[in-house]
Amino acid sequence: MRLPTATVVLLGSLLATALAEEAIQDSSSGGGQAQTLHAKPLRISRAAHIARAAVTDHGKTASPSKLWSTYDSVLSTAKYIDLTHTIEPNMPIWRGFGNITFSPAVNKLTGKPFTYAENMFVATAYQLTTDQMGTQLDAPAHFNPYFASSDEIPATFALRKLVVINVSDKVAKNSSYAMTVADVLEWEAEHGQIPRRSVVFVRSDWSRKWPHVNTDVFPQVLLETVQFLHLERDILFHGHEPLDTDMSPDFASEAWLLSHGYAQAEGVTNLHLLPPVGCLLSTGFPKFLGGVGSYVRYVAVCDPHWPHGVQPGTTPEAPLPEYANALDWSKHGGHRDRI
Ligand SMILES: *[C@@H]1O[C@H](CO)[C@@H](O)[C@H](O)[C@H]1NC(C)=O
Ligand SMILES: *[C@@H]1O[C@H](CO)[C@@H](O)[C@H](O)[C@H]1NC(C)=O
Ligand SMILES: *[C@@H]1O[C@H](CO)[C@@H](O)[C@H](O)[C@H]1NC(C)=O
Repeated sequence: MRLPTATVVLLGSLLATALAEEAIQDSSSGGGQAQTLHAKPLRISRAAHIARAAVTDHGKTASPSKLWSTYDSVLSTAKYIDLTHTIEPNMPIWRGFGNITFSPAVNKLTGKPFTYAENMFVATAYQLTTDQMGTQLDAPAHFNPYFASSDEIPATFALRKLVVINVSDKVAKNSSYAMTVADVLEWEAEHGQIPRRSVVFVRSDWSRKWPHVNTDVFPQVLLETVQFLHLERDILFHGHEPLDTDMSPDFASEAWLLSHGYAQAEGVTNLHLLPPVGCLLSTGFPKFLGGVGSYVRYVAVCDPHWPHGVQPGTTPEAPLPEYANALDWSKHGGHRDRI
């Protein structure tokens, strides 16, 4: 594919020089200009308050793709809702796993942490005690070595219809309530049959107290319910707010799911901001070789008229915002923050 000819209109000499050099390098090397721009986020965001760059494409942009027209007519104005906990030290974790810690990455050549002043950049070292923490996509290999590990989960998991079944009223009365097949049928009586290959998230409101949650007593999903969802409704995977599927000593629901080749989502949050039907779920997960759990970013993409969520372009995206306070490790110890 021929690269579009981009004219970079610049107001600000600092950024102008840098970008012009990169554009020349790009056209000669054949590399994509967008890629080069994204590879230098610091320079761009620092310069953003004095320079504003507009990239005008003089080439043909006609798109015969249905996806692009769907993006323009629906997804570009949809509401995006993050369903993910931030990974941080001392966050709730299953009692068998140690706490995770963050530290400044150390330069092997000097034995000292990287600093903006000396190295131009900083980096972080994460000491992770488990791949089963925070908001996850459990790979079947967590319980059965013959089924997929994290890196073997197909890219097709990236985008699906999202169903939300709300059992928060029952959980309010019984904190270890286990969702039944009757709850699913009740939902279907109101909203219609759960679409095949969709993702089903169970809203319990357990996560609304995060990080002050009880990881020993929590809302559950019965074995017969996950079996019904997969065997009778042919869903892609289900997800729940707690860090486990049920409280039985033999992990009945989770063991059945994973040892039959089904993935599941755990530690999802913000389900109270979603409608029962109509949203899509975007799933972004890293690929650790042979990993059996995955840190995940789940984002719901909902109707443009839905009252919750953020529309693309309504908050700074490119450049991303510059903050009044710098990230600083020293004031917090366990991680960087801006306070
Ligand atoms: C681990 O994290 C918990 C909070 O989730 C905290 O109460 C506990 O003190 C931490 N343990 C260690 C050894 O830091
Ligand atoms: C979910 O259940 C809670 C508690 O009963 C209720 O307040 C809320 O309106 C329900 N939400 C939806 C979308 O059904
Ligand atoms: C709460 O729900 C669990 C799971 O269904 C059940 O075992 C337990 O008996 C219930 N507790 C009460 C007080 O109803």
